[in-house]
Amino acid sequence: MMEPVYGHLLPGETPLEKTFFVLPSPSSFPQNVKTMTSSAKHPFFRRSRSLTPVLLTALIAAGCFVSAARAQDGAVIEIQADKSLHKVSPTLYGLMTEEINYSYDGGLYAEMVRNRTMEHGWAGIARWDMVDTGTGRGTVKHESGDGPTTDLPSSLQLDVTAADAQNQVGIRNEGYWGMAVRPDTTYMASFFAKALSPTAGPVTLSLVSDTTGKVLATATTAALNGEWKRYEVPLRTGKLVPSSLNHLQLTLQQPASVRLQLVSLFPPTYKNRANGNRVDLMEMLAAMHPKFLRLPGGNYLEGDTVEERFDWKATLGPLQNRPTHRSPWNYTSTDGMGLLEFLEWTEDLKIEPVLAVYAGYSLKGAHVGPGAALKGYVDDALDEIEFVTGDTNTKWGAIRAQLGHPAPFPLHYVEIGNEDEFDRSGSYSGRYAQFYRAIKAAYPQLQLIATTPVTTVTPDVIDDHYYKRANEFYKMLEKYDSVDRSGPKIFVGEWATREGSPTTNLGAMLGDAAFMTSLERNSDLIVMASYAPLFVNVNGMQWEGDLIGYDAISAYGSPSYYAQALFAEYLGTNVPESHKTGGSDRLFYSVTTDSARNKIYLKLVNATSTPQAVTLKLNGTGKLAREATVETLGGADPAETNSITDPKRIVPLHSIIRGIGPNVQHTVPAYSVQVITFGS
Ligand code: AHR
Repeated sequence: MMEPVYGHLLPGETPLEKTFFVLPSPSSFPQNVKTMTSSAKHPFFRRSRSLTPVLLTALIAAGCFVSAARAQDGAVIEIQADKSLHKVSPTLYGLMTEEINYSYDGGLYAEMVRNRTMEHGWAGIARWDMVDTGTGRGTVKHESGDGPTTDLPSSLQLDVTAADAQNQVGIRNEGYWGMAVRPDTTYMASFFAKALSPTAGPVTLSLVSDTTGKVLATATTAALNGEWKRYEVPLRTGKLVPSSLNHLQLTLQQPASVRLQLVSLFPPTYKNRANGNRVDLMEMLAAMHPKFLRLPGGNYLEGDTVEERFDWKATLGPLQNRPTHRSPWNYTSTDGMGLLEFLEWTEDLKIEPVLAVYAGYSLKGAHVGPGAALKGYVDDALDEIEFVTGDTNTKWGAIRAQLGHPAPFPLHYVEIGNEDEFDRSGSYSGRYAQFYRAIKAAYPQLQLIATTPVTTVTPDVIDDHYYKRANEFYKMLEKYDSVDRSGPKIFVGEWATREGSPTTNLGAMLGDAAFMTSLERNSDLIVMASYAPLFVNVNGMQWEGDLIGYDAISAYGSPSYYAQALFAEYLGTNVPESHKTGGSDRLFYSVTTDSARNKIYLKLVNATSTPQAVTLKLNGTGKLAREATVETLGGADPAETNSITDPKRIVPLHSIIRGIGPNVQHTVPAYSVQVITFGS
């Protein structure tokens, strides 16, 4: 898989926790620091109380609170708040995702059954095992010629030779490294089945503890018959301790042969969407304050081959009409997360899609040359845009309405392909032009993104990708400062400081934050940016250095996650005139203002091991409150990190500085990012 380390050459907060400490000795801390609390309004910013003393000690050790006098020796940052250089792009921070690291299946998409479509591997029907509750007997096999639909033409055949009510025989599924079962919760179980023998009777579905064998929830369907039919039952849990050490069982109570397909189990989902998303992960995304979602990928859009591209039309409608497909990350995608589900995801977060359309190039090198051969793919993209934006009088708008979503979705950006610089045939310029002309003719208002510079037409936007070490980012922070503003805008559609695994560490967060200061400073040119990859199931990592980690039952944000959230939350509308003199070259900053709200947001990134003193000269501000708020994200060692077992080691801490005037003496702790909000 491509792991590029490159960039295109240039073409009043209410803390959820109460204040968790009051500084013990006024003499040990600067007078202007009042208290610190866990930052932000979202549960994911809450920290464990038990960690507090550890982090407090670390911050003190790192020199978080040093005397104001030392600040006079360091950097000077002068801000002319009333002189705007340019606007901040209102869409600057967003999300990029794809099916990688079990991001959707085994991740955001809430399906709990793994291999629900009975995919047959060398070792049998993957993820399914026989189970019997006593002395019953039976076997399973893959039936390749019979399924509920032509899109799912195979099934699992269960032949039970001995069973009764106490000795049931059937199959069990382990889920994606377990199944999260919570108390007093209703899970919806469903499957397609066909009886081969009239004696089949009903199917019993049970959620069972792996460790105790206890049945945690159970229900029984009506008796099966000889036709393929869908069965659905609720599984309701009672009082229990949440755990992911559970599995799902489907059993028969008497000898019979049955065929099964599309066995599914859903917990309650975000906004209660059928076929929807995990609540915890969606809440984490909402807390990032994103403005867009680039979908569906990445390499996932392209596929290894043309046949394995993200063929959006095959991802619509009832699940039994989705044939599934192999993704370039080497597992089968259920396509439960289909195009409409992607769009509903954007709707739930109140953000816009950035729609990437397949452009005729796939990862193993196959490409469809511009001209007649490419026309079908261009038409597909036009249909896709109509599906997203068309009203119900259009063909694809009407199909969207039939699928339950009459209202069109907003759309301003369409990306043509992904990383087409890897197409060594050089066909992208021609392919891009063919898409560009056809889409512009039908949708002149759309901004069309190219994935690499082209010579045929002038793209509206170019997508730059960077996967780098922190030191590499520090060296390229001025890259965009001198780019000619008369050319295409820039979308930094994938980027990350890749240090730490499976999610990135504190050192990576510093690299990220430093890079984001340059994104904000250049946000007249850079219209959007999205970190990647967003998700990793910690049991199924394929790409090191991800933003949000999870397993079947819990999730956490890397330090970089919190930096993303802070940078997006505290973002003004304009970039004012400012400059920094003196101080370390590893002390970075960005400042934005919001004159309507009378706010100045100053972001400071100290990527050094020592506290950095800084004098802030605030000019042209109008009347400022005497207090400013500070969010601090930092730690003692760049290798420090959050993890599935230590999820909130590094989270933002909230504090207040007093005595704000035209000159503020401040010290930025070692290895930290601070966001200071000045305002009225
Ligand atoms: O984000 C991981 C991969 O990196 C993306 O799929 C691809 O676009 C890039 O090469």
